[in-house]
This record gives sequence, structure tokens and C-alpha cells, in this order.
Amino acid sequence: MTRAQYDYSSHTLVLTGACGSIGRAIAQRFFDSGANCVLTDLDQDSVSAFADSLDPTGQRVLALALDVTDPAKVDAVMQASHDRFGPIHALVTSAGLYDDAMVADMPDAQWQRAIAINLDSVFYTCRAAIPFMAEQSAIVNIASLAGHRGSRAHAHYAAAKGAVLSFSRSLAVELAPKIRVNAVSPGLIDGPMVQNLLSLTGSHFIDQTPMKRLGQPEEVASAIAFLCSADASFVTATSMHINGGLYIAS
Ligand SMILES: NC(=O)c1ccc[n+]([C@@H]2O[C@H](COP(=O)([O-])OP(=O)(O)OC[C@H]3O[C@@H](n4cnc5c(N)ncnc54)[C@H](O)[C@@H]3O)[C@@H](O)[C@H]2O)c1
Repeated sequence: MTRAQYDYSSHTLVLTGACGSIGRAIAQRFFDSGANCVLTDLDQDSVSAFADSLDPTGQRVLALALDVTDPAKVDAVMQASHDRFGPIHALVTSAGLYDDAMVADMPDAQWQRAIAINLDSVFYTCRAAIPFMAEQSAIVNIASLAGHRGSRAHAHYAAAKGAVLSFSRSLAVELAPKIRVNAVSPGLIDGPMVQNLLSLTGSHFIDQTPMKRLGQPEEVASAIAFLCSADASFVTATSMHINGGLYIAS
């Protein structure tokens, strides 16, 4: 099976959480489609090394350290992106934190950190990008299956991701018709984020998934590439499930 190819030459992607497993797949997909890529993550060395591996010439990639919980730094990244590449055509918020705690045992600081990284950051990033977004551009916020269904021992994460879904729908109404805003909701996607869950639950969730496997980061990147493309020109204010059917099976 061949994946659809979009022509993103002379387009610019701004991506948070670029060094994550899904972030890397998104960056690769957009870079291979010709886009300029502004890649951001917490650690400058890691994001620079990833950027070098994508584009050793450095011509189409800008690597910037960014803690998405710091609104002033988020503002500075959008300005730097615009200074280097001009208007932004695609904004994807992939930074996220998934840790475990039962509500009865959850300290305030753990709740607040989860909300800051998974929700506040999406507000800061979208708000900062708006003045720099091109006509007919697209925002995709990465939510989660947990934001629809809830998740035992992840109430903080699920609450934040559920809010990302409603935030994205609200923003879509505010920014139409210039900018489309959608969310994607991955289920269990191969990578470090789900390793702890799998070690605790074994094959339970894979058995529950009609497709009988984990998703691959490239499958999330494909959905995002579609949502940012002209093929999705009438698609806004929605969320796309990418979970092999786990959403309806339980
Ligand atoms: N992997 C899954 O199964 C899955 C399922 C549902 C949703 N998601 C969501 O998809 C997105 C990407 O997940 P992933 O699997 O690539 O996770 P990952 O853990 O591999 O990557 C997350 C990235 O976010 C970065 N990050 C964390 N805190 C940050 C901060 N304060 N500022 C900037 N960057 C920060 C990390 O450095 C890391 O590179 C996340 O939003 C996650 O919640 C993932």
C-alpha cells in the first residue's frame, strides 16, 4: 500500500514535541513532502540532532528548544519561524506527557503539570501562531482516545485531552474561514509513551483493538498530513480517531 503524497513545497510546518515518536514521524512526513519544518522540543541538542538527520543542509529545517508551558518562549518561537520562513501553513501540537496516578493519590503538582503540558500549551501555541498563519492554513492538535473515553489512573491526562478536543472545536469556529482547526485522537501508538501501560496490562488493549495491533506513528502522521492538505479543505472543527477501532470496542 502506498501512502498519499501531498506537495507541501513552500509550505511551513511548526511542530511541538518534535522529538517524540509521533513528532518524528510528522516531521519526516512533512519534510518528505517538501515543507519547511520548524521543529521544537525541550532539549536543544536532541532537536538539533534530529533536524540534522532530516536535513543536513539546514535549509528547510529550523530546530528550536521550547518548553511549551512557557508562553513567552512560545511567542518567540512563532516570531522566529516567521522571520525564517514567512507565514505558517500547518501548526501541529504534539508535545505531551502521559504519567500514572490514581486521583486519590494525585498531588496538586502532578495534576497541574499534566494540565500545563497537555492543555495550557495548546492554548499558548495556537494563540501565538494565529497572527502568523497563512490563508487556508491548518492547525491540528493531538488529543487522545483518553480524552473521549477517560482512562483509569490517567484522569489528569484524560481531562486535559478532553479539553483539547473542545478547545479545538471552539477555535475552529473563531478562525474560519481562514484557518481550519481539527484534532486527532490516537489510541495505542507504538513508542515510549505506551510502554509502561503495556508492561502493566500485557496484551489486554491489543486484544480489545479490532485491528489487533498497536498503531504506528506514521499512521498518525498520515492522518495529520491529510487534515493539513487541500483534500481536507472542508474539514474543520472535528476530531479523527486513529485507534484501530478501540474506541467502540470494550
Ligand atoms: N503514543 C500514544 O500511544 C499516544 C496516544 C494518544 C495520544 N498521544 C499524544 O500524541 C502526542 C505525541 O505522543 P508521542 O507518542 O510522540 O509521545 P512521546 O513521549 O514520544 O513524545 C512527547 C514529546 O513531548 C515533549 N515534551 C514533553 N513535555 C514538554 C514540554 N513541556 N515542552 C515541550 N515539549 C515537551 C517530549 O520531550 C517528547 O519529545 C502527545 O500529545 C500524546 O499525548 C500519544
